[in-house]
Amino acid sequence: MAGKGGARSVFRCTECGADQPKWAGRCDACGAWNTLVEEPLARGRGRLGGKAASSAILTAQPPIRLSDLGGVGLERWQTGLAEFDFVLGGGIVPGSVILVGGEPGIGKSTLLLQCAARLEQAGISTLYVSGEESPDQIRLRADRLRDHTGAVHVLGETRLEAILHHAGTLGARVVFVDSIQTTYTDELEGAPGNVGQVRECAARLMRFAKKVGPAVLLVGHVTKGGGIAGPRTLEHIVDTVLYFEGETTLDHRVLRAVKNRFGSVDEIGVFRMTGAGLEPVLDPAAAFLAGRHTGVSGSAVTALMEGTRPMLVEVQALASKAGFGTPQRVATGLDQRRLAVLLAVLERRGGLPFGGLDVFVNVTGGVRLLEPSTDLAVMAALVSSVHDHPVPADALFIGEVGLGGEIRPVAGVERRLAEAGRQGFRRVYLSKRSRVAPDGLELIGMEGIDELARRFAA
Ligand code: TYD
Ligand code: MG
Repeated sequence: MAGKGGARSVFRCTECGADQPKWAGRCDACGAWNTLVEEPLARGRGRLGGKAASSAILTAQPPIRLSDLGGVGLERWQTGLAEFDFVLGGGIVPGSVILVGGEPGIGKSTLLLQCAARLEQAGISTLYVSGEESPDQIRLRADRLRDHTGAVHVLGETRLEAILHHAGTLGARVVFVDSIQTTYTDELEGAPGNVGQVRECAARLMRFAKKVGPAVLLVGHVTKGGGIAGPRTLEHIVDTVLYFEGETTLDHRVLRAVKNRFGSVDEIGVFRMTGAGLEPVLDPAAAFLAGRHTGVSGSAVTALMEGTRPMLVEVQALASKAGFGTPQRVATGLDQRRLAVLLAVLERRGGLPFGGLDVFVNVTGGVRLLEPSTDLAVMAALVSSVHDHPVPADALFIGEVGLGGEIRPVAGVERRLAEAGRQGFRRVYLSKRSRVAPDGLELIGMEGIDELARRFAA
């Protein structure tokens, strides 16, 4: 194994950057624990002298004026999986490295195999490398899919050197590596999946992509904590980071761009997992409202922005008489502390006592409410549940709520309202200070949360 001589790799502290020749649990320099990561020594570092050095310099690229570069249009390869291309900003950019992260079982391998099939159909050669499944197992998956996967080259391999060799010989224009955690290089001693291995393999694939020109798509497993297993630093190495998320028990899957050198971040694409692979959802804005029961108390709909697209989501609340002890506060899809704040505001400014009530809040479709613009909908659902009085089925709630109970306007309200109108919503509860005048929608401007509480008192 490499590194036995002791001189081919060092262990670098991810906190302070100091290096030491041997691994230890604690960094000698800064005292941090578990921060040492194996790193290969650059080949020939420090040995390049005289003639060799000057010839290396002569073959390097000289600086060039930006204007002399001419117009370079960004080429993009479309997969035809509409939602996937959309999230990327129009398709796969040649030479780019894209990391697709997600929990095990969410559908990463399925998504990428479908991409490979689509690219082959568009005449773009692909290589699908799997370190997790044998070619036979990939074949089994492929047989389920509606896409024609026949032309895709597959390879069961985990050694980076072999992957690079085959990708080069085949001349594949898009290389899929499933997953980065099973890939390892002989140059490092660590086991596959450890931080040093993952980082080094990703960096080498990145250099391969930039030098030889193919796009590389990496699968990265995500831990329950939400990070790509091992290094967050992986996100800095690659060009684009996509997360594939959703509840494995529901069939909606959301692909989210959290970093994109060639497009905008926070864009999402919505898919449905079917018996024959993933299908882009045609009307993503309404996807999460499907199956909504109307006329039930404790339900309110809001429109949130996912990147440039508005999405409609339903917030459900249930307030019921608490048993003994401290009342329960359970939030799914909403930060627990945010719920505590909203309850306190509703109690103090809206005069609704929650002291003796268990409160459960749930956002349907596995969506997470990260924007304060959804405050008003959460409160409307709570008020509606307390009074057991449904809000109108065609009502939408948009607004941030401050600690004083004041309802604040939110950004991008025009686009949210346009989408709501398209989906058949007719009245919108929002801040009195919102300046909009959409067609076909009745706007009900409110100053403070006390108005909301009064309006929906049974
Ligand atoms: P997979 O792509 O293996 O997930 P990952 O690579 O992220 O671990 O997808 C696994 C799940 O998807 C598995 O539970 C089976 C399901 N599935 C379908 O429902 N339909 C299909 O057509 C395929 C291929 C998988
Ligand atoms: Mg997989």
